Amino acid sequence: MSDALSTRPIAPRAALDADAVRAAYRRWARIYDASFGSITARARRKTVAEINRLPGERVLEVGVGTGLSLPRYAPGKRVTGIDLSGEMLAQARARTAALRLGQVDALLEMDAEATNFADASFDIAVAMFVASVVPHPRRLLAEMRRVVRPGGTLLFINHFAAEGGPRWWVERALAPASRALGWHPDFLIEALLGPEDRARAEPRAMSPFGLFTLIRLPN
Ligand SMILES: C[S@@+](CC[C@H](N)C(=O)[O-])C[C@H]1O[C@@H](n2cnc3c(N)ncnc32)[C@H](O)[C@@H]1O
Repeated sequence: MSDALSTRPIAPRAALDADAVRAAYRRWARIYDASFGSITARARRKTVAEINRLPGERVLEVGVGTGLSLPRYAPGKRVTGIDLSGEMLAQARARTAALRLGQVDALLEMDAEATNFADASFDIAVAMFVASVVPHPRRLLAEMRRVVRPGGTLLFINHFAAEGGPRWWVERALAPASRALGWHPDFLIEALLGPEDRARAEPRAMSPFGLFTLIRLPN
């Protein structure tokens, strides 16, 4: 598959279905915070700070994981977190209880590609390090769009594959390990955003080393 603004083919990706995601994050849950969770801490902090500055209080966080972001939401926000992994959610629930996080409305086991929420239930939806994990990124985008009110905001923070150079080769080499890793190192931005969305997205590189990109899309 390719599209008009891109000359890069959207590479075939190793299968990562819902069962593979659950299996991967069952393994990750206990070590997540000290490993991937800590590498991504700065980018997560900046993303939530951006959300706190946005108008509207109803926030949906898809793929909330162990809930590392939850203590950072302003008390005025009302956050619903969803995740496919019961083990990751258990950690998020424990964190919410231990820190008595009043801004957390609910933590639910649910598929972010097909949620139970009514249209326009939220002002903001955010996916932090989730787009390269879900089986169908464009379905994730469509579902986030549906549950956010017109005029609301969608945010994604993710690692996207490099355009070339040594990093691209490393990402390609790691791609066959996608199932074990639980995410796609060679994930292309084109797999998430079509040409129109890429044209109006406001991408910003985030540390460490610009490895992550924050994308903000008006709904
Ligand atoms: C790399 S972790 C990111 C966790 C968290 N957002 C963070 O910033 O630390 C990816 C999370 O997405 C969840 N996930 C993957 N596919 C999902 C889906 N279709 N619906 C809901 N959650 C999903 C995984 O279970 C995992 O907890």
